[in-house]
Amino acid sequence: PRNIIIDTDPGIDDAAAITIAVRNPALNVQLISTVAANVEVEKTTQNALKLMEFLEADIPVAKGCDAPLLKKLEPCPEIHGVSGMDGYDFPEVKRQPLQKHAVEVMREMLMESEEKITLAALATHTNIAILLRLYPEVKEKIDEIVMMGGGLSGGNTNTVAEFNLYNDPHAAYMVFESGLPITMLGLDVTNKALLRKDTIEKIKESGKEGEMLYSLFEHYRSGTFESGLRIHDACVMAYMLKPELFQTEKLYVGMVTEGYAAGATVAGKVNPIAPGREPNVNVCVDVDEVAFEEWFAGEFCR
Ligand code: BDR
Ligand code: CA
Repeated sequence: PRNIIIDTDPGIDDAAAITIAVRNPALNVQLISTVAANVEVEKTTQNALKLMEFLEADIPVAKGCDAPLLKKLEPCPEIHGVSGMDGYDFPEVKRQPLQKHAVEVMREMLMESEEKITLAALATHTNIAILLRLYPEVKEKIDEIVMMGGGLSGGNTNTVAEFNLYNDPHAAYMVFESGLPITMLGLDVTNKALLRKDTIEKIKESGKEGEMLYSLFEHYRSGTFESGLRIHDACVMAYMLKPELFQTEKLYVGMVTEGYAAGATVAGKVNPIAPGREPNVNVCVDVDEVAFEEWFAGEFCR
């Protein structure tokens, strides 16, 4: 199996991605590190713990950064609800997060691991940027960063910026410039990879996990049951489990960190600032949307 650390802000689409990753034996989830983005970090941490308890998964949860590097946190409860995961009545959480900061736990886990680990980045990059800045030696242990964020043509928080990168453009800049292998699943694919009503209903009937996700999806404001829900973060798991669903292109991706366009990604075959440089990102530019929906349903309806 592929070893992964999930850096996340659950988050309804995060919950779907995490559920798939935990259940699929091809992925070995070693840690859930949380960050502030969709909602405050206390809430994203509680939500991660709720999921681990519900899934009966023995995976540690570590609480990470409570704010972006330089900007003020701008959560989006209008998409995920006030708790960040509204819609399902999870039993009381008995588990605790680890006592150490997520960045410290990530470092320890990476340095102690004999095999390389993939970072599945489902949120704003604050934890990852601090990890790479404080402990650059971890780079040798990171196989790849597979991230949901950005886009080649347009945003969702505003006309140019996608939410995860909008929230902490400086952290995203540090990640894109890190020299690590990066695969980006941006809005170009995640806005197309939809779950429609029939599929969501099939998933509901598949068991307790399906029922839980159905209840969350009923409260999720990223799309509609009728025309399709955007389960952005699940695309990261789809890419790791079934890369053939996606068409990719190696591009140079730069981050805008300041001004009106802060949070926007600018991509092209050539880096406009340093024309000789190699492309830094493997960008998923298209997805087989029918096969994606079948894959997603198949993760539950086996
Ligand atoms: C991203 O923003 C968050 O609200 C979602 O969880 C996803 O990671 C989509 O732009
Ligand atoms: Ca997320």
